[in-house]
Amino acid sequence: AASTAAAAPLGATSTTGTLASGEPFVTATFSAPTNIAVIKYWGKRDVKLNLPINSSVSVTLNQDDLRAMTSVMISPAFEKDRLWLNGEEEDVSKSKRIQTVLAGIRAIATDRTLADGTVVPAAELADPSKWRAHIVSANSFPTAAGLASSAAGYACLTRVLAEVYGAAEPTPNALTAIARQGSGSASRSLYGGFVRWNMGAAADGSDSFAEQVATADHWPDLEVIVCVVSADKKETGSTAGMTTSVETSELLAHRAAAVVEPRLSAIEAAYTARDFPTFGAITMRDSNQFHACCLDTFPPIFYMNDVSKRLIALVHRFNAKHGSIVAAYTFDAGPNAVIYTTKAHTAALLATVMAHFPRPAALASDAEYVSSAPALEAAKA
Ligand code: DP6
Repeated sequence: AASTAAAAPLGATSTTGTLASGEPFVTATFSAPTNIAVIKYWGKRDVKLNLPINSSVSVTLNQDDLRAMTSVMISPAFEKDRLWLNGEEEDVSKSKRIQTVLAGIRAIATDRTLADGTVVPAAELADPSKWRAHIVSANSFPTAAGLASSAAGYACLTRVLAEVYGAAEPTPNALTAIARQGSGSASRSLYGGFVRWNMGAAADGSDSFAEQVATADHWPDLEVIVCVVSADKKETGSTAGMTTSVETSELLAHRAAAVVEPRLSAIEAAYTARDFPTFGAITMRDSNQFHACCLDTFPPIFYMNDVSKRLIALVHRFNAKHGSIVAAYTFDAGPNAVIYTTKAHTAALLATVMAHFPRPAALASDAEYVSSAPALEAAKA
């Protein structure tokens, strides 16, 4: 897990060796989890630096099937930086985000001792005309379907590059600010548990980084059920959607000015106190307000579909039956539902979801249909 591995100095988990050509290499492999925001990030005040109009908080998920995995090898033998994403090569020269993350890490590279004892000075290692990176990355879940694939992907890329370059963080949480420039939500995926991305105030973005509010083992009773409503690529990407929302939605402006800050304090207190009814109520309201802002965008953006709406109604009925909030849905920029609950209610909630959405005939078994796992990394223990 990112939160525990952070205890080892960056670079410690990379290895060096020699290619058949005799030239040296440094390599590392890392995986990073996705996170699901409970106070959503929606809107940028600076598109170039990827600075948000409000702070946000999320829970880092622990499912093995919701992670990105990335291997990097750097070597003077390579002709250029290259990237393969889910088996297909992407043109790195056309991806501003990948280049920004690469440049951010190269800028904090440290001297590297190779297997034969020679030392490559940081300046040489970080010089893209001398050492180049080959990056291979894969997601264990649908890319761009509103399951925060960019969060896991850029967090993983940042972390694994930090390993091969032996990056030295100039200030605490500096890696999260590099991941932020890949994708805003990625800033929150470098830590486990409950994580806040501070919007910051500085024009250069130096105080817009993520920090851990509660560790992964703080609330082992919290569980999450991910309902994959559709694995299709979303119609409106987050970045484009945010731009139109900032330009046109009065509700979004009101949200950033008056709603988010008090909600952040309230949900952090609820999470710290493991107060599910308060945590759940704020989570659902914030998801609903985010989607209301999308509807208030002109032309409007629809991320939820009829199945999403049926799941919302189902959760409210489930809570009404229990006389309190024991389950809470949240939706990102897509129709898929993430439902937070606690261990005592997971089985009943899952049974209710499956009763309303029976297993498709194409799937051989319930086991294939259902994938439920503890929400928090520490719940593994
Ligand atoms: C609805 O982080 O994908 O999931 O910074 O443009 O890459 P970019 O956007 P991204 O947006 C995530 C939006 C959200 C809410 C959230 O995760 O906070």
